[in-house]
Amino acid sequence: MAAALPLTPSASDRRPVSFPEGFLWGAATSAYQYEGGNLHSDWYEWERLGRVRERCGRAVDFWERYPGDLDLAASLGMNAFRVSVEWGRVEPERGRFDDAVLSHYADIVHAIRDRGMQPMVVLWHFTNPSWLAARREAPWVSGDSPELFGRYARRVAEALGDSVAWWATLNEANTYADHGFIQGDWPPGRHRDYLGGYRSYVGLARAHSHARNAIHDVVGPAARVGLTHVLPWVHPASTGAGVWKPHAAWYRWMAAWAFLDRVRGELDWLGVQYYYDVPTTTFGHRPDDGDPPRTDMGWRIVPKGLYHVTMQTWERYGVPIIITENGLADCEDEQRGRFLIDHLLWLERAIAQGADVRGYLHWSLLDNFEWAAGFGPRFGLVDVDRATLVRAPRPSAALFERIARANGVPDDLDGGSRYSNGADPLTPR
Ligand code: BGC
Repeated sequence: MAAALPLTPSASDRRPVSFPEGFLWGAATSAYQYEGGNLHSDWYEWERLGRVRERCGRAVDFWERYPGDLDLAASLGMNAFRVSVEWGRVEPERGRFDDAVLSHYADIVHAIRDRGMQPMVVLWHFTNPSWLAARREAPWVSGDSPELFGRYARRVAEALGDSVAWWATLNEANTYADHGFIQGDWPPGRHRDYLGGYRSYVGLARAHSHARNAIHDVVGPAARVGLTHVLPWVHPASTGAGVWKPHAAWYRWMAAWAFLDRVRGELDWLGVQYYYDVPTTTFGHRPDDGDPPRTDMGWRIVPKGLYHVTMQTWERYGVPIIITENGLADCEDEQRGRFLIDHLLWLERAIAQGADVRGYLHWSLLDNFEWAAGFGPRFGLVDVDRATLVRAPRPSAALFERIARANGVPDDLDGGSRYSNGADPLTPR
């Protein structure tokens, strides 16, 4: 057990912080949210049925503009870059694989490498091919979706081979189950279908196995195949939490471990994604607990949660971790610099206490399509003009660059940004 460090980085103990040699600094993106023109996915159909406030359309046209966007990423000191592959694009009809699309993805991966960045490739980021979604049963809850996913993974592995540094089969099975089966604002649009959500976990866990086996088979056993999962920091609220905390325990299990435990033993690494905390009382949540700063989406900014979820994940699974998403919607870029610094200071605590963390990818490089919320929320280090698609780095992009190039957080760095509610930046409540 490592010596206990003070849990709250404060102004008085601020020191220059550095990260392990070879640490990955990068940004995360996803196909549907970036590429544009993804006509063969269930989300396209969902939009066509008017289930969203804004359609994705050409997104930010990453499909065509990727060389410039990757130049931009490299110019910000990034040495890693995450993309996803759109299954419906690769396999627009069941069993018909589009070789031109596969070679376009290979070009993207090589372009990432050519710029000195390690490519991370995710095979599924929420969207399903429309032919799969059109079947009687929703994808994953039953049937052969896992086997079909394995076949698709094999084709992608054959096309991209060993040029991929980090493979992730699935992104956030938990978010998919929540929005698709409980809240119902994403396909397949089920409300409070807890059984369906749980069955999707079972199907997605099987899909992970098939895909991982396929990649190891094609690329070799050394291929690093994991997946990414969002982990809210679930903790008892400051008041009303009760003595016994069943809700916190249940919530943490459902949100985090229920799925990951199913794939335990089949992970070469794990992507931890952290956005906010969830304070719980004996029987529910307390979203108004305390007064933390908030993002444009209203999400609570609680940087120490990154420390906690990283430690919990490390202690539970013991495989190398990459922070594969962390970020915020902040159109004016008022809080992003501070957010970045504070989360990294907490992450460094976890590393100092023994967690094997290999990198930090920010969500996201560019403003992009935020699913049901459309293009309103601005998650980019780089602003994208909706009309012209012109990219313009925000001030926080320069701050990210300084951190990435220094492989740490210099102690004089404050980014000039402050939390909107005036909270002490280094002692977030
Ligand atoms: C998802 C992204 C999403 C981001 C911000 C993550 O949970 O993987 O697709 O844009 O959160 O909401």
